[in-house]
Amino acid sequence: MPCLNYQRQEQIAVISRAGAPAEPIPAFLQELMTALRRARDDAEVTAIVFANILSADGGIAAPEVDDLEDACAAVEDSAKPVIAALEGVLIGPALELALACRWRVGAPGCVLGFTEVKIGLMPSPGAIKRLLRRMGAQATLEALTTGAFLGAEEAAEAGLVDALGADALAAALVFAREPADREEGPENDLATRPAPPPDAAQFAIFRAKTAAKARGQLAPVRIVDAVEALCAAPAEESRRRVRAWFDECRDGEQHKALMHVSVAQREARTVPDLPPDTAALPIRTAAVIGAGTMGGGIAMNFANAGIPVILLEVSGDALERGMALVRKNYEASVKRGSQDSKRAEAALRLIRGATEYAQLAQADIIVEAVFEDMQVKREVFARLDEVAAPHAILATNTSTLDIDAIAASTSRPAQVVGTHFFSPANIMKLLENVRGKATSAQVIRTVMDLGRVLGKVVVLAGNADGFIGNRMLMFYGLEAEFLLEEGATPERIDRVMEDFGFAMGPLAVRDLAGNDVGLLVRRSRTLPADERWSPVLGRMVAAGRLGQKAGKGFYRYEGRTRIPDPEAVAIIESVSAEMGITRREIPAQEILDRLLHALVNAGAQLVEEGVALRSGDVDTVYINGYGFPAWRGGPMYWAEQHGLDRVVVTARKLAALHGARWGPAPLLLRAAARGRWR
Ligand code: NAI
Repeated sequence: MPCLNYQRQEQIAVISRAGAPAEPIPAFLQELMTALRRARDDAEVTAIVFANILSADGGIAAPEVDDLEDACAAVEDSAKPVIAALEGVLIGPALELALACRWRVGAPGCVLGFTEVKIGLMPSPGAIKRLLRRMGAQATLEALTTGAFLGAEEAAEAGLVDALGADALAAALVFAREPADREEGPENDLATRPAPPPDAAQFAIFRAKTAAKARGQLAPVRIVDAVEALCAAPAEESRRRVRAWFDECRDGEQHKALMHVSVAQREARTVPDLPPDTAALPIRTAAVIGAGTMGGGIAMNFANAGIPVILLEVSGDALERGMALVRKNYEASVKRGSQDSKRAEAALRLIRGATEYAQLAQADIIVEAVFEDMQVKREVFARLDEVAAPHAILATNTSTLDIDAIAASTSRPAQVVGTHFFSPANIMKLLENVRGKATSAQVIRTVMDLGRVLGKVVVLAGNADGFIGNRMLMFYGLEAEFLLEEGATPERIDRVMEDFGFAMGPLAVRDLAGNDVGLLVRRSRTLPADERWSPVLGRMVAAGRLGQKAGKGFYRYEGRTRIPDPEAVAIIESVSAEMGITRREIPAQEILDRLLHALVNAGAQLVEEGVALRSGDVDTVYINGYGFPAWRGGPMYWAEQHGLDRVVVTARKLAALHGARWGPAPLLLRAAARGRWR
C-alpha cells in the first residue's frame, strides 16, 4: 500500500498522505523522491505542496541519516519550490524535511520540536545548517540543546514558519500559486545564504552554560560543537566533523539508555491486569484539600491543564496564605519563562478557594493534601464521603501512609486511590499513583490517564511501605549515613553522586527536605530486629541543623549555596567515636557502589513483591522523581549494563553489615544469573 498520494490542483502538485498509516521510512522517502521527480518532469507544474505528510503520527520512523539527508537535499534543490503545510506535531526526520522546503505554512496548532537531545542525539548536519541560516546561532543553540517545542507563533517569530493559516493546506496553495511574488532575491535565498559569522564569545558562554547543565551528557555538548563548527569552518570539513559527532551520539551508550527511558515511560502507563475495555472517567472539575506546600502545586497542575479546581482549606487565613503561595509560584514561572503571563493569569482564574466541604459536590476528582497524619486524613475522607458526588474519585497525596486504611474511612473504597505528586508539584514530572486493594479498574485507568492530561510521567505502585520511590530512597539515604559513620564527609558523598550525574547528592537532598521531617518519618516506623538507624540524622536535628531552612544542616548555607561545614563534620566524627568506628578514607568507587547497589537491590525487591510492575517503572520513578541521570537509563538499566553480579556482591556485604533485608533480592539473584532483568 502506498504511503503517499500525488494529485494535481491546477499547476500545483499536491503530495498528501494516503489514508493508511505510513509505511516505514525507506518506502516513504522513496515515494517522496518519485513524487518530486514526477512534479519536476511535468512541464505544467510550477510548485509542489506537501500536505500534512510530515506530522509525527505519520510514522516517519528513524531513517538512515544518509537517506534522510539525500531526501532533504532533493527537496531543497528542487527547481520548483516546495511548500510544506504543517499540522500537528513535527519532530525528527519530519521536521528536517519540512526545514528543507522553500516555505512552511503552519496551522495555528502546529508544534515544532527539536527533541533529538532528549534521546541523546542531534539533528543531521544538514538540518542544523538550515536552522542556523533561519534562526541564527543563539536561537539554534537554545532550541537544540533544550529539546524545545515551538508553537506555531513562536516558530513564525523565529523565522521557521513563513505564514500561518487556519487551513494550512489552503494557505500553502495560496503560497504555491504566487511563488513569483516571493521570488527570492539573494538575501532571501535561504538555501545559499551563508551561515551567520561565528561569535567566539557567544559560544564560550553557551558552552560553559551547557557543560554545567548537561553534567556528563554527551549530546548537548556535541550540539554546541556542531553549531560552532557549522558557523566557522569551511563547509566540507565542518560537515565531516559534525557527521562524526552525529555518529558518536547515535552509536553511543547514552542514546541507548535514553531510548530505554523513553520506552519505559510509555510502558509504565499500561497496567496489564486492567480489563482492556476499561474507560477512564472524564475529569471536568477537580478539587484539592489543603493549600500547603503540595496542595497549591497540585491545584496548579489541574489549572494549567485547563481544568477548574477548588482549593479547600480549614480557614480563611490558611486559604489566603495558600492562594498567595500559588500566585507567587505563577509569578516565578512567568519570570523563569516557563509560562507566559497570559496563560498564567488564565490558569490562576481557574483556581477557586473554598472553606466549605459542600462546595466539593461537583468535583470529578478530589485530591487530599493535608498533614501527613492518619487520623487527620481519615477524618477528611469521612467528610469527603458525605459530600462528594457518587462517581467522584477520592485521591490522597500521602507519601507514606496506608491507602487501604484511608479508604476504610469511606463507604466507597473502590473510589479511593493514591496520587503521589512530588515537590514542587507544579514542576516535578512524576506522578506515582498507588492502588489500594479495593481500587476499581476504572479509577486506576482514570488516574493513569490523568498523568497525561497533566503533562506528568505516570507510574502505578502497589500500596506498600514507601510505595516505589520512597522505599528505595530509604535504603539509599540510610546507606549514605552509614558511609558518614565510617569516614566519609557529606561533601565527599554528594560530590561522588553528583559526578555520577544525580541532580543533587543524598545529603544535600536531606537538607533541602528538612532533617526534622526525615526524622519524623523515621520515628513513625519500626525496623526489623536485626537493623538499626544511624544516629547521625538525629544528632543533626538535636544541634538545630534542620537543613536549608535553618541555614545549616549537613552543610551551612549562604542563601541556597551550600558550604562544607567543619561543625557538621565534627558531629559526624563524634558519632563515629561513640560507636568505636575508626574512620577511614572511603574510595569514590565504594561510595558509588554501595549507594547505587542498595538502590538497585531495593528496586528488585519492589518488582519481586509486585509493588512495581516492572524494572522499567523503577527507572521511570527514579529519573523523574529523584534526580537520577536519565542518560544513564535509571538505576535498573544502569545495573544491567554494569553487571548485576556486582550488585549481588555488594548486597551480600551490606547484609552482613546492616541486616538481612539488605541482602540480594531473589529477583536480583535470578537476573544476575541471566545477565538481565527479563
Ligand atoms: P503542609 O503542611 O505544607 O500543608 C498541609 C495543609 O493542609 C496546611 O495548609 C493545612 O492548613 C491543611 N489542612 C490540614 N488539615 C486540613 C483539613 N482537615 N482540611 C483542609 N485542609 C487541611 O503539608 P505538605 O507538605 O503540603 O504535605 C501534604 C501532603 O502531601 C502530606 O500527606 C505529605 O506527606 C504529602 N507529600 C508532601 C511532599 C513534600 O515534599 N512536602 C511530597 C509528596 C507528598
